[in-house]
Amino acid sequence: MKKNNSRFPKWLDNAVFYEIYPQSFLDTNADGIGDFQGIIQKLDYVKSLGCTAIWMNPCFESPFGDAGYDVSDYYRVAKRYGTNEDLKHLFEEAHRRGMHVLLDLVPGHTSVAHPWFQQSMKAEKNEFTDRYVWTDSIWESPDGYASLRGISDRDGSCMVNFFSHQPALNYGYYRPDPKKKWQQPMDADGPQATLQTMKDVMRFWLKMGCDGFRVDMAGSLVKGDPDGKGTIRLWQNVRAFLDQEFPDAAMISEWGEPDKSLLGGFHMDFLLHFGPSHYNDLFRCEHPFFSGNGDASAFVKKYLESYEKSGRKGLICIPSGNHDMDRLARTISGVHQKIAFAFLLSMPGAPFIYYGDEIGMCYVEGVTSVEGGYGRTGSRSPMQWDDALNAGFSSAPASELYVPLDPDPKRPNVKTQTEDPDSLWHEIQRLISIRMEHPALQSKGEIQFIQAKKNTYPLVYLRTAGQESILVVLNPSDREVSFSFDGSLGECIYSLGGKTKMKNGQVTIPARSASYHICN
Ligand code: NOJ
Ligand code: CA
Repeated sequence: MKKNNSRFPKWLDNAVFYEIYPQSFLDTNADGIGDFQGIIQKLDYVKSLGCTAIWMNPCFESPFGDAGYDVSDYYRVAKRYGTNEDLKHLFEEAHRRGMHVLLDLVPGHTSVAHPWFQQSMKAEKNEFTDRYVWTDSIWESPDGYASLRGISDRDGSCMVNFFSHQPALNYGYYRPDPKKKWQQPMDADGPQATLQTMKDVMRFWLKMGCDGFRVDMAGSLVKGDPDGKGTIRLWQNVRAFLDQEFPDAAMISEWGEPDKSLLGGFHMDFLLHFGPSHYNDLFRCEHPFFSGNGDASAFVKKYLESYEKSGRKGLICIPSGNHDMDRLARTISGVHQKIAFAFLLSMPGAPFIYYGDEIGMCYVEGVTSVEGGYGRTGSRSPMQWDDALNAGFSSAPASELYVPLDPDPKRPNVKTQTEDPDSLWHEIQRLISIRMEHPALQSKGEIQFIQAKKNTYPLVYLRTAGQESILVVLNPSDREVSFSFDGSLGECIYSLGGKTKMKNGQVTIPARSASYHICN
């Protein structure tokens, strides 16, 4: 990593994250909804898989029109999860185990129920008049954005950031149109107050012991900013504040464009199911590469572009899934899931495992939308711990569970998989422990693609750190394949699906296999 002035928390060098959707992890008071006590009880579980850090989806007070991404009080956790004290205890328990916890910060919008918005809707000017992006007439809507209209005494339309109950907080316009006085510059008082307030929110939780934030829609804050220049500048300002006050705090953006976010001072950015990364080509399209009949070349091309531009400023992180995407198991199954994890856990950047993906939990088809989940609801079903009542998630009646459980009698669970050495769970545990032993495989090891040709298997890349080089060979296809390689293969440190053979510079590998080879 090149030196720059910004701090890079050391703990990210080998971090492996586990995303917890708190609603669905473990319910300890039989109300059908997961809670902090449940997460605390399962920290040892998360650690036993090998994960070192947790990202927890929003847990703040909210009317839950968007599963908590519609915050109504940034300083108080939602009662259903516990108290602020319980969350502090969760941080302490994680730290006692050497783990870290990221909260989910939603800086782009609030709920309409937030007291700031209630004040902002008033006709009389007040402290919150400019907290949101308002036009100055009900008859004018902000160009290119949906708006909330006709619900305020104030004459104006309020810009919407996502769902219509999520008004956009005002960080200003990058280049305000002088003819539209309501478009405020980034350095105007209203936008500056919003930014200061968001820093206060971060300070509050970091002081309590949280280790950083996953930032929701991080690229959306400054308006009229198609290249993200204003938003990058805004995040650089936040980075400077964190470097000063909380140098070990880690920041990961939901942006999906590392060239921009990492320049903005984020330590990490996700590749996502939207944006330019071709992430879906690998896991979620008609013919995903990891199902054995797809193409990774466009992904690799884009990855290398981003890596060259920004991969030395921060980490490009590839998640197994998240609460917004279809479950991995909807498109990738059986041994292909293991090969997909051999990829996820050997790429640069910090890997993120979505709760339940470690046991291959399925997308639950046909469930009614819960808390604004719509099609995403099927990926948010209760964690399947064992074969007891409600898969061990809750002792509430089944009809009261947050989202219905996967009804499949053969649904996977943690108990069975931890008892079976051949399970996906054990494969992932193995892969993480190998990653932990080899810096070349960790966040900052370099990557060089050896083979990533169009419509070709296997995918082959070399990971390097210092003196250590490791060749990763992934063949999810149904046939034996070869590639030429001018190095020599040393010890095989991971192998799934059979032996790799090398003869006259040609490496041949079996169908449906994955392997890592020392290659110094
Ligand atoms: C992205 C979050 O991941 C998603 O769940 C949410 O609905 C939107 N942002 C709006 O906050
Ligand atoms: Ca509960």
